[in-house]
Amino acid sequence: MDINQPLTLLGGISPAKFMRTYWQRKPLLVRQAIPQFKALLSRPELFGLAEQSGVESRLVMGANGGQRNWHMQRGPFKRRAIPKLSERDWTLLVQGVDLHDDRVAALMQQFRFVPDARLDDVMISYATEGGGVGPHVDSYDVFLLQAHGQRRWRIGRQKDLSLLPDMPLKILANFKPEQDWVLEPGDMLYLPPRYAHEGIAQGECMTYSVGFRVPEVGDLARELLVRLSEGVEDGAGNDLYKDATQPAVSNPAAIPLGLKDFAKKALQMSLKDPKALQRALGEYLTEPKSNVWFEMGDMPDTLTSVQLDRQSKMMYDEHHIFLNGESWRAAGKDAALMRQLADRRALTSMQIAQASPAALGLLMAWCDDGWLHAAR
Ligand code: SIN
Ligand code: CO
Repeated sequence: MDINQPLTLLGGISPAKFMRTYWQRKPLLVRQAIPQFKALLSRPELFGLAEQSGVESRLVMGANGGQRNWHMQRGPFKRRAIPKLSERDWTLLVQGVDLHDDRVAALMQQFRFVPDARLDDVMISYATEGGGVGPHVDSYDVFLLQAHGQRRWRIGRQKDLSLLPDMPLKILANFKPEQDWVLEPGDMLYLPPRYAHEGIAQGECMTYSVGFRVPEVGDLARELLVRLSEGVEDGAGNDLYKDATQPAVSNPAAIPLGLKDFAKKALQMSLKDPKALQRALGEYLTEPKSNVWFEMGDMPDTLTSVQLDRQSKMMYDEHHIFLNGESWRAAGKDAALMRQLADRRALTSMQIAQASPAALGLLMAWCDDGWLHAAR
């Protein structure tokens, strides 16, 4: 993608300008971001996904218009558990649709002017007249693409983020909208994190949310430390705390100084190799979600062109490539090839022809794992 080229998707501004001007800063409404856009999944296809146990879905029944009464259930939902289409004020939300549908995965690719490490998933909501999840803020950036019917969006910059008590979902207590639009199919609204918003369906409505993930410092530290600790074993017996010089104590509850030093050393050891931190980060960022399963493929005899499975997460840094939670050291021509695969999510037969036997072996093994597919 040429990041300096104006994009219809962004209302005729370039990704470079969008990231400089709007990203994480202010909302952007784009009329006809995708001209003539039609919902990629039909209603039965979406309801079918909500029936599956490996798909995260929620049903929200809410009363707008000040009645302040909300109910939420978690899926999977048999068709008969979903309210009648003639009933108003309900919405079905299906998370991670990009993992289950190639068309939706392809739509998400259009947003790859943002690093993959930040892209999370596409959620699809289906609502009847009046349906929505109430006024709220999200902790992440989101592009709200109208796919079918109309939705009225009201948004506001408010600082008061207090919530209604005892609700099954986070509903702002004092929503103060400042802007108000009705979105038609193909229209899109970008919202930065913590921007108050409420979308209400006007008749049957489907909205696609392209969402991003934001690591939270505590979660990230926990994940990285677990991974780093796996690398701290020196095997020479220096990994055991020793206290031959420990004198007898009359205050047994006090933590010995030596143990404090040992704890510090343990943490320092896990961070000693800077590459270990980079590895832990890449493995964490590419770790598939817990509901992701790959179907084993066939180890091909020869490889022509290949493409990553839509569920595969592949990233890289200066020393490594990462795929689905695993890491490999890579340098030189092979690293360049693998980076192409990560950025383009595919390799042509000409590119593959230049792969070393080791790189070719990896590509074959990934086909076997179902992470990569020989192009059809
Ligand atoms: C929806 O599609 O109903 C909710 C999307 C959102 O407000 O983040
Ligand atoms: Co939201």
